[in-house]
Amino acid sequence: MKVSVVGAGYVGLVTAAVLADQGHEITCVEIDEDKVDKLKRGQVPFVEKDLSKVVARGMRHRKLSFCTNLKVATEWADIIMICVGTPTRDDGYPDMAHYEAVVDQLCECLTGPKTVVNKSTVPMGTARRVEARLRSSCSQPDTIHVISNPEFLREGTAIHDMYHGDRIVIGTNQLDVQMQMMELYAKLSSPVHICSPESAEMIKYASNAFLATKISFINAISELCEVTGADVEEVAAGIGADQRIGTEFLKPGLGYGGSCFGKDVQALISTCKMYEVPFGIIESTVAINARQPYRLALKLEDALGKLDGREIAIWGLAFKPDTDDMRDARSLDFIKFLLDRGAHVRAYDPAAYSNAFRLLPDVQFFMNPYDCARGADALCLLTEWQEFAKLDLESVRRSMAHPIMLDCRNAYDANKMWQSGWDYSCVGKTPPKTLTSA
Ligand code: UDX
Repeated sequence: MKVSVVGAGYVGLVTAAVLADQGHEITCVEIDEDKVDKLKRGQVPFVEKDLSKVVARGMRHRKLSFCTNLKVATEWADIIMICVGTPTRDDGYPDMAHYEAVVDQLCECLTGPKTVVNKSTVPMGTARRVEARLRSSCSQPDTIHVISNPEFLREGTAIHDMYHGDRIVIGTNQLDVQMQMMELYAKLSSPVHICSPESAEMIKYASNAFLATKISFINAISELCEVTGADVEEVAAGIGADQRIGTEFLKPGLGYGGSCFGKDVQALISTCKMYEVPFGIIESTVAINARQPYRLALKLEDALGKLDGREIAIWGLAFKPDTDDMRDARSLDFIKFLLDRGAHVRAYDPAAYSNAFRLLPDVQFFMNPYDCARGADALCLLTEWQEFAKLDLESVRRSMAHPIMLDCRNAYDANKMWQSGWDYSCVGKTPPKTLTSA
């Protein structure tokens, strides 16, 4: 099938590369000429496991190409997939500017038959509204269909998720379009869930809001564990053993970040306000997530006595491991708190340096974790990169001014850490001894 994928960001590029790998002819349309030039030379503009390999394979087999001309790509394709960003506006509602700009252009050049697929996360009712708009400017209106087909790709495992997703949601009531989409995804093993466009749009928001709520729930439980002496990991394993709950997304930490959870939860809250539907749970989810970095930074302040003038080393800045993405990273709030209290902050991240550098002008960056920790009054692990599990922690401890560690992702074995001379604290576990003041 011939597919134009509009937008070469995380979602668009992964989708385009995997569909090309499955034998479809894919043109990826991107307005950023510089990005297109780089992609044509095989350079992927962000860190995503296996993506460069799959892009290169698609290009080698002449199944994947890149261009800047949406009109030409639209005329050529059977399916147009819109994968542009819908970031959050100040009022919490999605900023539809990029999406609407694509629709404006489609209005000028769309002739039927075409299927327009919304992969961008858009407010409920968008597919139906845009279908009416595109049809009104087209000579064969009945052959234009707009459907919702949300993505559930996690950064860092997006290629794997595309091949082995838990489900493919196809939101259209049109039988022939359902068949067309099933043919498009025929080589993927994921079960297909067919529903109305409105339900598909809601599934995306509700999925991310539910996952975010699970994370905030366990983070709130972690605070309770700290004051009651329970161990949050034992608790998470115990509740997760109930199949109705499940163990996934019950890992306590610094809170959720990234390009989706915060944005989608805000969009759901805005929708609730618009329709005057009370949804207190989701507001609590946001409040707990906002509090978590400050709560953990206060633990560090307690351990050090004061933050003013202290040298604090940070390991990990990206919103999660295996990505260089700093969007909505909780590390930013955590570090801001330390800087506001007068601490000197130095940081190391295996991949996010160039994105973090411009966001954190007052932070000193290091190119390796040992140099970053040397001489520091305390070390904080904010992103659980695998690399940190393999370091020689004994030599790190000896190189520091004070052996204080705050592990905000429970990356290390707490019992081992407490026995090995660290003043170690983590999330939702009570140490056998309180952290010593520096
Ligand atoms: C998410 C969704 O999982 C995906 O389906 C959607 O389409 C895009 O948004 P992503 O943002 O890549 O994916 O990251 P994800 O792995 O879901 O993690 C999001 C945040 O939650 C990260 O900051 C992560 O550290 C945090 N998290 C995740 C926890 O704190 N605890 C957990 O148990 C799981």
